[in-house]
Amino acid sequence: MRPFLLLFAFLLNYPVFAQSAPPADTRNLLPVPTSVRWGTGKLSWKTMLRPQLQGPADTLTAAAVARTLRRLRRQAPATAAAAATLPLLVRYGNIGQPETFDEERYSLRVTPTGITIDAPTSLGVLRALATLEQLPELEGRHSVLPEVDIQDQPRFAWRGLLIDAARHFMPVSVIKRNLDGMAAVKLNVLHWHLADDQGFRVESRTLPRLHEVSGQYYTQAQVREVLRYAAARGIRVVPEFDVPGHTIAWQAAYPQLASGDTLYKTVYRSWRLANVALDPTKESTYALLDTLFGEMTTLFPDPYFHIGGDENDGRQWRGQPRIMAFAKANGMLKADGKTLDKHALQTYFNRRVLAMVSKYGKQMVGWDEILGPGLPKDAVIQSWRGRKGLYDAAQAGNRAILSNGYYLDLNQSAASHYATDPLPVNNPLTATQQQLILGGEATMWSEFADSVIVDSRIWPRAAAVAERLWSAREITSVPDMYRRLGAVAGQLEGLGLQHRRAPEQLLRQLAGPTADVAPLRTLARVLEPVKEYKRHFQGFTYVPSTPLNRLVDAAPAESDVAREFGCQVDTLLNYHTAAGAGLPATPAARVLLGTLRQQLQTWQANNSRLVPLLAASPTLTEYAPLSAALSTAAALGLERLAQLEKGQAPSVAWRAAALQQLDALNKPAGQTELAVLPHLRRLVESK
Ligand code: ACM
Repeated sequence: MRPFLLLFAFLLNYPVFAQSAPPADTRNLLPVPTSVRWGTGKLSWKTMLRPQLQGPADTLTAAAVARTLRRLRRQAPATAAAAATLPLLVRYGNIGQPETFDEERYSLRVTPTGITIDAPTSLGVLRALATLEQLPELEGRHSVLPEVDIQDQPRFAWRGLLIDAARHFMPVSVIKRNLDGMAAVKLNVLHWHLADDQGFRVESRTLPRLHEVSGQYYTQAQVREVLRYAAARGIRVVPEFDVPGHTIAWQAAYPQLASGDTLYKTVYRSWRLANVALDPTKESTYALLDTLFGEMTTLFPDPYFHIGGDENDGRQWRGQPRIMAFAKANGMLKADGKTLDKHALQTYFNRRVLAMVSKYGKQMVGWDEILGPGLPKDAVIQSWRGRKGLYDAAQAGNRAILSNGYYLDLNQSAASHYATDPLPVNNPLTATQQQLILGGEATMWSEFADSVIVDSRIWPRAAAVAERLWSAREITSVPDMYRRLGAVAGQLEGLGLQHRRAPEQLLRQLAGPTADVAPLRTLARVLEPVKEYKRHFQGFTYVPSTPLNRLVDAAPAESDVAREFGCQVDTLLNYHTAAGAGLPATPAARVLLGTLRQQLQTWQANNSRLVPLLAASPTLTEYAPLSAALSTAAALGLERLAQLEKGQAPSVAWRAAALQQLDALNKPAGQTELAVLPHLRRLVESK
């Protein structure tokens, strides 16, 4: 093999493609590629694909190709005898390094005579393989690969997923299967939140009390195992050691770090925002951080190192005479000469930390609180509190990543994440400033996600973020996104993710060994956990040791059943509007009416099937009002359907009473809410 000649040949036949119109026929591809041309031929599963790699020898690329072939073969009929052996030709120029943002673009061609992947780097090969795994289509009982010519490249270079392994520890197996999920949708940065008030989760050889007080942690060997697993999938791993706030676990290990006078003997056993902070005035604080960061910057090879910096309101600093004296002596008081300029003191701390991180050859990343006068330009800002931080950072000349709008733990819809674009058309940045927007990260904070259910809180919604960050800005069809999200959800289960299996298992556990789980499942599938941070404030105090094994934990973050019901209601109401009165006498309208009626009848009847179980199980009793509400609301929906069918307009009195009833039913229980109520409201409201 002569890599140089090969590269030359490769560049000649590899056009840098211009932005073209968004592909119309997206099939199961997520994220949508830059350009897709479907052919009419196909590659049958009677074919054996023989990999042929042309590029610098690389075991990771060879392993990735073999992995994809194994996965594709699993979809072939077991009895398929190979009728032909055709090439899977993989040509790449260089071995790509994810940490230097090497190119990820690729072309993928499937024809009846074989498959060809061309990419400037091996990273492009990995992305092409991810696309290839989404190509199989069922033809009769067999899956085939359709003929296609795909050219693809990412819109943003930084496409991340944050996993909080500090609040609930996430074993290596959880991280690995989520890395597989990330690779499938072309996410390329794992932001590993490793330390918080509730735990410090990495073995430290230099400061072992940090992990010892925390109980569950990753050994350094396990960290390296995860890093290798990620690298093999073209994924960077950025560790976060959050300072100066969120540090009770650190203070439990090394009390001399504390600003306040409270002595923490254990890690924090609460979810309340603690607002504790490291003492920024003591040289011993920096000596300890320097020791730790020296060790951790060696363990984690990525050039970026996240130091957190969020949610320190400065109350401990203001309350400590020693710290106030330091602030006074160093000109960190406000104009009144008395009040602490918290930002000035934290910027001093940040600069000290940045110097350390730089000394170890890393670029510092921090949450948007660290942005302000005096922050050096080489710090990267991760914006979580709003879009403003992102643009302020770029306008100040700092690189920036968007997470606001991508908080998976807030249980918002995939559509809302999908609509969040780091650089929408009307953004306020100049072309040069736009270059500083590196991309974004979905965040999975883990107050309400343990290792069992975390997949169901990440997937499939994280895939909507992945598409927003990879695909062209013009790819915005929400129905098409949801259709493909459903396909990806199935694909991910095949890769070992448990976003469907784990909630189902939890339902079975809740129903007990003797009861039929079906009625409980029917209810659970139309429930969603309350949104945003409301779960903390609904009559149930969660602490880190609270088991996450109630119905709220089995409820989907976004109910597919409710969303699909909502789409059907809208379609029916569109028919109704077009017909003027009642419904048109078309087969489509009749079928839809029948589907909706059947769904509503199921919900109406579900309560009486479920009541015995709800009454018998102490952990389920609190959900009884929601089961009853579903039944009552469904009955109202059925009344409205009957009116529509007969072409009767509802009386003003009927509608008013029905809406009042729906409002009364709209009460969360057990930190969940009925996700179908807004859709039933639209149905009942219709004239
Ligand atoms: C954060 O959510 N406190 C970064």
